[in-house]
Amino acid sequence: MIEATKCIGEPTNPANVVILGAGGDLTKRKLMPALVKMLRCGLLHEDSKIIGVLKGRTQEQWLTELFEGFKSYAPDIEMTDKQWQSFTSMFKMVSGDLQEETTYQSLAENLETIQGVKNAMFYCAIPPRWYTTVAAGLHNVGLIDESDGFRRMVIEKPFGMDLQSAQQLNSELQELLDESQIYRIDHYLGKESVQNLLVYRFANSILEPLWNRNFIDHIQISAAESIGIEYRANYYEKSGALRDMIQSHLMQVMTLVAMEPPVEFTADAVRDEKIKVLRAVRPFEDEEIKSQTVAAQYGSGKRDNESDSEAIKAYVAEEGVSPESVTETFTAVRFHIDNWRWQGVPFVLWTGKRLPERVSEIVIRFRKPPFNLFDTHANPPQANSLVFRVHPDEGIALRMNAKMPGLTTDTQRMVMRAPYSENGEDVSDAYEVLLHDVLIGDATLFSRGDEVEESWSIIEPILNAWKDRISVDRYRAGTWDVEGMEKLFEDCVGGWHKPS
Ligand code: BG6
Repeated sequence: MIEATKCIGEPTNPANVVILGAGGDLTKRKLMPALVKMLRCGLLHEDSKIIGVLKGRTQEQWLTELFEGFKSYAPDIEMTDKQWQSFTSMFKMVSGDLQEETTYQSLAENLETIQGVKNAMFYCAIPPRWYTTVAAGLHNVGLIDESDGFRRMVIEKPFGMDLQSAQQLNSELQELLDESQIYRIDHYLGKESVQNLLVYRFANSILEPLWNRNFIDHIQISAAESIGIEYRANYYEKSGALRDMIQSHLMQVMTLVAMEPPVEFTADAVRDEKIKVLRAVRPFEDEEIKSQTVAAQYGSGKRDNESDSEAIKAYVAEEGVSPESVTETFTAVRFHIDNWRWQGVPFVLWTGKRLPERVSEIVIRFRKPPFNLFDTHANPPQANSLVFRVHPDEGIALRMNAKMPGLTTDTQRMVMRAPYSENGEDVSDAYEVLLHDVLIGDATLFSRGDEVEESWSIIEPILNAWKDRISVDRYRAGTWDVEGMEKLFEDCVGGWHKPS
C-alpha cells in the first residue's frame, strides 16, 4: 500500500469513484494526482475503487497512459513502479460508449459493495453536451437511487453557455437527480486561498468594521494568466474570457468577498448568502455596457525568459482559431452591488491570457484619509490596500504608508506580508479539496443551480451586446497594454492594480 503522509481533514467512507471520460486530459492532469495525494494522506479510503469509463483502449493501455500522465503532470509526487502497481489494484475499467445503455448496465455490474454499502461518486470528465445523457443513463439502470449508498454526480464547468442553456441543463438534471446529488465544480472555490478568505473575514473581528462602503473605495478581483489558450481553440472560440472566467470563477469569488456572514458554516447557509449578493448586483443597461466593460484580444508579442525572449503568436494565429476571430481573451467588468454594505463601491473583475505573469488576487482598496497632512510631499502617501493572493505565493499583504528613515516626514510604501504557508507543500490542490468534499457530502464549495442561473442572467446583457461585434481591441501579448483599463478605473482611488 502507498505510504501514508500527513492527514488533515475528515476521513471519507469507502466509495466507488467513477470517472466518466477517464481517457481524457482532466483525469491525467488533475484527478489522478489528487486521488493519489488523498490516498496517501488517508483522505481516500483504501478500500475505495476507482472505475474509469472510456472506450477505445484496453485496461492495460489506459493504465499505461495514466502512469505516463502522472509522471508528466505530477512530477513532485514520488511514485515508484511498485507503488503504482499497488495503487492500480484499486482500478477497474468499464469500456463503452456513453450513448449506449449497455455501458451503464456494465457500470452497474461493476460497482462494488464496500463495507456493506455501494457509495458512488460519478465524475463527469466529459464535454457538457453529454451531461444529461449520462444522468439519464445512470438513472435508467437505477444508479441514481440512494437506497444502498450515496450517489453523487460531479459536473465540470461550463455549466451552460448562456442563461437559457443553463436553465435547460438545470431542469434536465433536476428531473433525474435531487439538487443535493449535483455537485457543480468551480475549481476556484476549491483553492485553499479562496476558502481562507472566509476564515480571514469571519474568524477575525478587526476586518468586519472596515468591510463596507464607509472605508472601502473599490475592490478588484483578478486572474492574470501568462499562458494562451493552449489546445482549446474549439471551446475558447465559443466561450471567450467573459464566459470562461468572469461568469464562473471570478463572480463566485466576488460573492465570497461581498456576502454577509452566514448563520452557520453549512452548504445552504453559505450559498443562501452568496445568492443574495448576486441578486443585489445592479443589472446592466445596454447603453452603459461600453463604459463598464473592457474586451480585448492578444496580438503577437514576446515573453522575456531569464536569458532571452520567446516570440508569442497572436490569438488569431493559434491553431483552430479563425483569422477573423473577435473573441476576447481579456475582459474586465465593473459590477455594483446595490445593498447597504456595498452601495457605491465598484467591484471590478478582470482576467486575461498572455499577460506578463500568472497572478490571481483580490485587492481591497481603501479610501484615502479624509485629510492628508503629507499630501504636499514629493512622494505623497497612497491609499491602503489589503491584497489576498489567490496564487502564486498564497497569503495576504497590507500596503501602508510609513515615514522614510532620516530627518524627514516624507513617506514611503510599506508592505506587511503574511504567507499562507511557509512551505508550499501544505497547500492542497483545488481538486483534492473538492473530491474530498464530494466524498464527505459537503456541497459548500460547489455552485447551486440557482447561483449559476443568477450569474448567467447578470452577464446576459453583456453577451447580447457583444455577440454581433465585428472588431475587438488588441493588446500585445506579454504586456499590460490593454486599452480602456485605465479609464475603467478613472474614478477609483489608486487606479488599476497591476500585479507585481
Ligand atoms: C479554467 C479556464 O476554468 O481556469 C481556463 O477554463 C483557465 O481558461 C483556468 O486557464 C485557470 O485556472 P487556474 O487555477 O490556473 O487559475
